[in-house]
Amino acid sequence: MKKVEDYITTIPDFPEPGIMFRDITSVIQDADGLKLAIDEMVKLLDGVDFDVIAGAESRGFIFGMPIAYLLHKPFVLVRKAGKLPRETVSKSYDLEYGQATIEIHKDAVKPGQKVVLVDDLIATGGTMKAAAELIEELGGKVEKIIFLMELAGLKGRDVLKGYDVASVVSYE
Ligand code: PRP
Ligand code: ADE
Repeated sequence: MKKVEDYITTIPDFPEPGIMFRDITSVIQDADGLKLAIDEMVKLLDGVDFDVIAGAESRGFIFGMPIAYLLHKPFVLVRKAGKLPRETVSKSYDLEYGQATIEIHKDAVKPGQKVVLVDDLIATGGTMKAAAELIEELGGKVEKIIFLMELAGLKGRDVLKGYDVASVVSYE
């Protein structure tokens, strides 16, 4: 029986020297890999009471949407700057390589709603920290943050201290 890590490909020095790129395309290009990845992420939400799933562009959309569909929850887009058409809240942050700004529609999360954040991977934790802060700015509560994989060596969990964080696969 194959495990999720058996479907993940590692590409050294992409997109720049020194980065070990953990590629999810080899997971989702395989029907069994795709199903296993989503099923394992859904298991991370066993017993979690929440209202909304929010996923980070773009790989967080791939994993967040099927989970929202399976659990019959609404799905909120955490998008890169300049893509959402209505009023947004916005935050800038640093990545393992580069810098970005994310936005959420102001009406996407109602005060008091319990939100699960989803992404494919945590590296420095910058993306999910910014997303969590935006959810909180809108009055939401971040109930749990889940990832398919975690680059534990980059200590992203420290950045997300105080949040309930879980992942399916962990790399040093
Ligand atoms: C990647 C990845 C996570 C984020 C993790 O997304 O999908 O969202 O970086 O890094 P962090 O923990 O250091 O914030 P990226 O911004 O490259 O966009 P993409 O999903 O569109 O490829
Ligand atoms: N996003 C940020 N760091 C990454 C890595 N090492 N592999 C894949 N996606 C990433």
